[in-house]
Amino acid sequence: MFSKRCIWVNGPVIVGAGPSGLATAACLKQQGVPFMVLERAECIASLWQKRTYDRLKLHLPKQFCQLPNLPFPQDFPEYPTKKQFIDYLESYARHFEINPRFNECVQCARYDETSGLWRVKTVATCGAVRNEFEYICRWLVVATGENAECVMPEIEGLGEFKGDVIHACEYKSGESFKGKKVLVIGCGNSGMELSLDLCNHNASPSMVARSSVHVLPREVFGKSTFELAVLLMQWLPVWLVDKILLILAWLVLGNMERFGLKRPSEGPLELKNTKGKTPVLDIGTLEKIRSGDIKVVPGIKRFTNGCVELVNGENQDVDAVVLATGYRSNVPSWLQEGDFFSKNGFPKSPFPNGWKGNAGLYAVGFTRRGLSGASSDAIKIAQDIGQVWKQETKQKKQRTTACHRRCISQF
Ligand SMILES: Cc1cc2nc3c(=O)[nH]c(=O)nc-3n(C[C@H](O)[C@H](O)[C@H](O)COP(=O)(O)OP(=O)(O)OC[C@H]3O[C@@H](n4cnc5c(N)ncnc54)[C@H](O)[C@@H]3O)c2cc1C
Ligand SMILES: NC(=O)c1ccc[n+]([C@@H]2O[C@H](COP(=O)([O-])OP(=O)(O)OC[C@H]3O[C@@H](n4cnc5c(N)ncnc54)[C@H](OP(=O)(O)O)[C@@H]3O)[C@@H](O)[C@H]2O)c1
Repeated sequence: MFSKRCIWVNGPVIVGAGPSGLATAACLKQQGVPFMVLERAECIASLWQKRTYDRLKLHLPKQFCQLPNLPFPQDFPEYPTKKQFIDYLESYARHFEINPRFNECVQCARYDETSGLWRVKTVATCGAVRNEFEYICRWLVVATGENAECVMPEIEGLGEFKGDVIHACEYKSGESFKGKKVLVIGCGNSGMELSLDLCNHNASPSMVARSSVHVLPREVFGKSTFELAVLLMQWLPVWLVDKILLILAWLVLGNMERFGLKRPSEGPLELKNTKGKTPVLDIGTLEKIRSGDIKVVPGIKRFTNGCVELVNGENQDVDAVVLATGYRSNVPSWLQEGDFFSKNGFPKSPFPNGWKGNAGLYAVGFTRRGLSGASSDAIKIAQDIGQVWKQETKQKKQRTTACHRRCISQF
């Protein structure tokens, strides 16, 4: 079965019901602006619910991760678990009565110059039933996230490799890898944590570090490294904060280079600001690397007959491969627009200016600053739309013309 419908939305359409979409919806609610949230999955926060591993905890202290207008419960620990964070998001959506339209994947969105409106097309499939919708709205908020799709690298011979090959987003726990030699490709936060988890489940992980990486301790002398950096940034330039962080990292973690982990020439904050590369916050992986339980290996040349050949000429037997090779934005695949977003699916203007485009287009959660960046965008977007909304509704009340357009939106 197949059907097509066109729906006028009174207020903005928000694409994505992750933390960013939820935060924007909650802030709009406070401004009295109705909205519609479209989500491709069947639940809110699908990244957290479906595409993360069991042992995951928030990396940053809780005060940097809560969304606007509803703090975490007081009994939450400093670093909430994935389950606690999902519970919080569920209660956030309930509290602000945010009811997304689930199982609706946005396929295309474009601005119609003639009408001055956005046209957002979705496909909703439910069993054999396929419905197509077109939403027409004045404002479009992109909240599909920095991690919408997995990065799957092309590596010679990997297609013929007989063992299991999964992306980090499919990894739940090391339980099923017990006793196996697992090659973890990538040494970002995912690669480091999955290697630790594999180790804790009696697997033998080797972690590929093809270039360089900044590893910082999650805490320095009992204080969050991130919090310390935020504090120092209020007084000192980035280069000096970077120097201080690296000295502290050296004091706490020691020299990592002798274990195969080279540090980039730019400092951790500078690299984050210029290239968006997140430093790793260590939660125990380095200790396992030092003890030899996790092996660090250089880049990969190719896979042959259940073996991996490394760029240094070494060969290793491998039973399974985990691609901890990161994620990317999917905005270019559905948003037909070239001024505000660049080809990599991120706004062209860096933080703090990447939240507002032209003609009612907004972006939330593309600051490379995690949940705190998303909250800051959400507040600004809702204030901006709220201002126009209030002005126009006041004017409408003064005129007494009736509105006969068919409206569907949530409020
Ligand atoms: C393993 C992991 C751990 C992390 N831990 C932290 C942390 O501790 N602290 C932190 O600050 N950040 C962390 N992050 C960063 C993460 O990006 C944020 O926590 C947060 O999930 C971002 O929220 P978001 O709503 O912008 O994106 P997402 O959570 O990715 O939500 C986007 C939503 O949009 C939906 N969507 C995508 N495309 C479409 C479409 N075409 N149509 C309809 N819906 C669509 C998706 O299904 C998804 O539900 C982590 C990321 C990963 C991968
Ligand atoms: N607990 C937490 O809070 C937590 C946990 C996990 C992830 N996260 C967050 O989630 C986001 C994604 O992290 P991530 O670790 O999944 O991705 P990431 O930071 O983008 O790291 C990807 C890694 O894969 C490597 N890589 C990519 N292609 C490769 C190839 N062909 N061969 C070898 N190596 C390759 C990269 O190496 P190069 O550097 O050489 O490109 C890099 O080491 C980050 O923001 C991170 O902070 C948070």
